[in-house]
This record gives sequence, C-alpha cells and structure tokens, in this order.
Amino acid sequence: MKYEEYYGDAYFILKQTERELLELVKNYPGQEELEDVQPIIYCKSRIKSPDSITAKLRKQGFPEDSQTALERVHDAVGIRIICSFVDDVYEVAEWLCGRKEFEVIEKKDYIAWPKPNGYRSLHLILCMKDGPGKGIQAEIQIRTIAIDFWAALEHQMKYKRQVDHEKMMREELKRCADEIASVDMSMQTIRDFIREGEAENTGRVQGETP
Ligand code: GTP
Ligand code: MG
Repeated sequence: MKYEEYYGDAYFILKQTERELLELVKNYPGQEELEDVQPIIYCKSRIKSPDSITAKLRKQGFPEDSQTALERVHDAVGIRIICSFVDDVYEVAEWLCGRKEFEVIEKKDYIAWPKPNGYRSLHLILCMKDGPGKGIQAEIQIRTIAIDFWAALEHQMKYKRQVDHEKMMREELKRCADEIASVDMSMQTIRDFIREGEAENTGRVQGETP
C-alpha cells in the first residue's frame, strides 16, 4: 500500500514534522567548528511504512487504521542521529530536551541500561507542540557511529531466525556490542585528553601574552 493511501492527508503533516525535526538538528551548536570532530556525523529519517505500522498495531491488538496508528504508535516519524562520541549522544539529547518546539514524553537510556542483546542507544519520544503537526509524536534515536554499525547488522538477524548457529551468533553479537562499548569509552577518553591538552596550551599561550 502507498504511504498517501494509508495515512491520507496526515502523510503530509508527518513529512513536514520529519523535515522540521531534521532542520532543528541541523542547527545543533558546535557543528560548524571545522577543526574539531563533528558531534553529529549524520542524520537519517523515515516515515514508518504502512506495512510496518499495521503489523505493529496487529501485534498489539489494535485496529489497523491510520487514525489509531497516529494515536498508539510513537514512531510514525523516526529520526536517527549518529554521533562521534558517547558524550555527544548525551549532549545532543540534553539539547533536544530543552527545545520549545516539542515536549519530550519519554526518554529511554539503553546506553546506561543496555538491552540483554547488547543494544545501546538513547531514545526520545516526543510530541510536537504547535503548528500543523501539533500532537504528532516522533521517536529520535541517538547513538554513536560504532554502535550504529552493530545495530545495522543485529537488525538483519531479526529476519534470519532460521539460520544455523543462531545461538552462537547472538552470543557473538552481544560480545561485539560490549567490545564496541568499551572502544567507545576509550575513544571518548582520547578525545578528552586532546581537549584537555588544547585547553592547557591555550591557557599557557594566553599566560605568556603580556
Ligand atoms: P518497538 O520495538 O518499536 O515495537 O517499540 P518499543 O516500545 O519496544 O521501543 P524500543 O525502544 O525497544 O525500540 C524502538 C526502536 O529502537 C525499534 O523500532 C528499533 O528501531 C530500535 N531498537 C530497539 N531495540 C533494538 C535492538 O535490539 N536492535 C536494533 N538493531 N534496534 C533496536
Ligand atoms: Mg522493541
């Protein structure tokens, strides 16, 4: 089924909300500092497909019409923000929580509390406050590029339940997720040292200047 066919006029409102959120993220401060590693590497977005949203409603025992979908499903509009470092993930989330365009109705921190399979990400569920999209909900997922690489591969596993060695693959993926989390921490530490060094040098230079 086509998107417009399922969502009707609401489709254009969903698209507009998607654009508005992407535009907002583009204005994240610090993105223009060319010498530093960018806090946000890139963003992806999508409107949930009619097949996927009706499957979700069916699973939860709700009617499958788009009206119900917009009331019950939080991620008809989905934005994914890919960051360089773990600290960036938290800083971007904090910045988003302070925006006036929407209200954050739920925050899920799977970085501090990873899922049993090793999934790590920070999710915000939000509700638009004004304009034509007023009342529309969206999900923003924020994670590091290293974990995003893992999540893309892990996602494929969901459709490959019949594969041989499934248990071994799940265990391996969990091990990889934990290793990636550890690498993310190390990368963060290196970045912190670089910044500290820069701050000290700047201080020294400034101190020397009469
Ligand atoms: P749904 O999973 O969407 O039914 O909602 P939920 O209420 O369980 O929320 P949750 O925060 O678990 O998941 C929301 C979204 O995060 C999913 O649709 C995926 O895009 C992503 N996600 C959650 N868990 C995983 C995971 O284990 N692996 C991967 N690759 N993505 C996940
Ligand atoms: Mg889930």
